[in-house]
Amino acid sequence: MNLAVIGTGYVGLVTGVCFSDIGHRVTCVDKDAAKVEKLRAGQSPIYEPGLEELIRKNMNEGRLHVTTDLESAVEEAEIVVLAVGTPQSVNGEANLQYIEQAAREVATAMNGYKIIVVKSTVPVGTNERIAARIGGLTEHPFDVVSVPEFLREGSAIKDTFHPDRIVIGAASREAAEKIKELHQPLTTKMMLTDLRSAEMIKYASNAFLATKISFINEIANLCELVGADVAQVAQGMGYDRRIGDSFLNAGVGYGGSCFPKDTQALIQIAGNVNYDFKLLRSVVEVNKNQRFNVFNQLVRLLNGLHHKTVGVWGLSFKPNTDDVRDAPSLEIVGMLLASGAKVKIYDPVAMERFCEMLNDPSVICCSSASEAASNSDAVCLLTEWDEFRHLDLKHIASLMRQPILVDGRNVYTAEDLNGAGLIYRSVGRPM
Ligand code: UGA
Repeated sequence: MNLAVIGTGYVGLVTGVCFSDIGHRVTCVDKDAAKVEKLRAGQSPIYEPGLEELIRKNMNEGRLHVTTDLESAVEEAEIVVLAVGTPQSVNGEANLQYIEQAAREVATAMNGYKIIVVKSTVPVGTNERIAARIGGLTEHPFDVVSVPEFLREGSAIKDTFHPDRIVIGAASREAAEKIKELHQPLTTKMMLTDLRSAEMIKYASNAFLATKISFINEIANLCELVGADVAQVAQGMGYDRRIGDSFLNAGVGYGGSCFPKDTQALIQIAGNVNYDFKLLRSVVEVNKNQRFNVFNQLVRLLNGLHHKTVGVWGLSFKPNTDDVRDAPSLEIVGMLLASGAKVKIYDPVAMERFCEMLNDPSVICCSSASEAASNSDAVCLLTEWDEFRHLDLKHIASLMRQPILVDGRNVYTAEDLNGAGLIYRSVGRPM
C-alpha cells in the first residue's frame, strides 16, 4: 500500500520505517527541513536501537522517502497517518494544535478517497472532531481510523514488529478492514472497535501502567518501614498471572514523554465531564514524591549537601534512549544543585539533551561512570543502563571521597556489593 506519515517524531518515524520494512511504500513528512535532510542522509534524529539501520535499508531499497512536501505525499497516498505530537498544555490537557493543523493541511491536499489514520494520543472525541473538520474542508470522501500506538522508547522497533495487540477504532467497517490488512504481516490480536473506545484504550493502558508503578513504589516505601524487601514482594506478586510481573520495579518513579502527560490528560478528560478521577490523582502525587526519596537519602547520609560532591549515573528517563523529557534526573539534579552540592553527571547517550534541558553551567559533565564517582562524597544511580551493572564496584569505592551509593533503580544485588566496601541504599530493600 502507499502511505504518507505526517510527523517524524518517535511514533511517526518508527511507524513509517516499520511499515516500509514490511513492504509498503511510505513517505514520511515533516515541516523541519533540517530534520528531513538528516533523514535523507540516512541519519536518525533520535537515538533508538536499530532505527538508523532500518532507515538506511528501506531508503536504499526505495520503499522509504522523506519530504517536507505534504501535498504531494498526500496526493500519492491511499492511507495518511497522522503522528504529530499532542504535548501537555499548561492546564494538563492535551494540546491539539498540531494535529488540527495537520488535519487541515491533509484535507486541503486531498485528491480522492483517503483513509486517515490517527496515531497521536488524543482525548476521547477528538477523532470525530477531526473527521468533522476535514469534512468541512474537502469534497473528497474519506474515513478516519484511530490506531493508538503502544510502542516504548528504547524498544520501539521490537514493539512495532511484535505488538501485544493492534487496536483499530473506526466508524466504517470497510476502512477498519483495510487498516487490518495494512498490518497483516504482523501476527497479533487485532481488535476492531469504535473510535471513542480506541482513544480511551490508549489513555487507560498508560494510566494503568503508571498506577502499577506508583503502587509498587508505595509498597517499597512501606517495605522500608517494616523491613521487607520490595524486590521479593514484586516477584511473589508477579507469579500471580492476574497481576503479572512487569512494571513492578520500584525506583525513582516514572518519567518520559508519555506517562506524565497522559495521566494528567486523563484527569482532565474526567474533569471535563465532572468526574473526579481520585485514584489517578494519587498515582501522579505518589510519583511526584518518589523523586524526593533518593534526594532525602543523600541529605541524610551526607548530613546536608552544602559543599558536598554528588555523582549522578544515568540521566535519560529510562535506558536505551537519549530522551530526558520529564526524567526524574532533571528534578533530582536541580534539587542537589539548589542545596549547594557540586554535581558530576554521566549518561552513556543523554548528556547533550540533559544539559540543554537543565541549562545550568555549574553541573560537571563526565565521560564515564568512574569519572563521575571520582572524589565524590556519594553517587546516585537514576537510570538502569546496562553498563552500570558491569562496573567494578570495589574500584569505584576506592575512587570516592566517601563510598556511598544510593541506587534509585535497585540495580545491584548483595552479591554485586560483596566486598566492595560501599555504604549502599536502594529503594524498599533492607540491604
Ligand atoms: C510508555 C508505554 O509503556 C507504551 O506502551 C506507550 O506506547 C508509550 O508510553 C506512549 O504512550 O507513547 P515509554 O514511556 O516509552 O512507554 O516507556 P516505559 O517503558 O513504559 O517507561 C516509562 C517510565 O516508567 C520510565 O521512566 C521507567 O523508568 C518507568 N518504570 C517502568 C518504572 O519506574 N518501573 C517499572 O517497573 C517500569
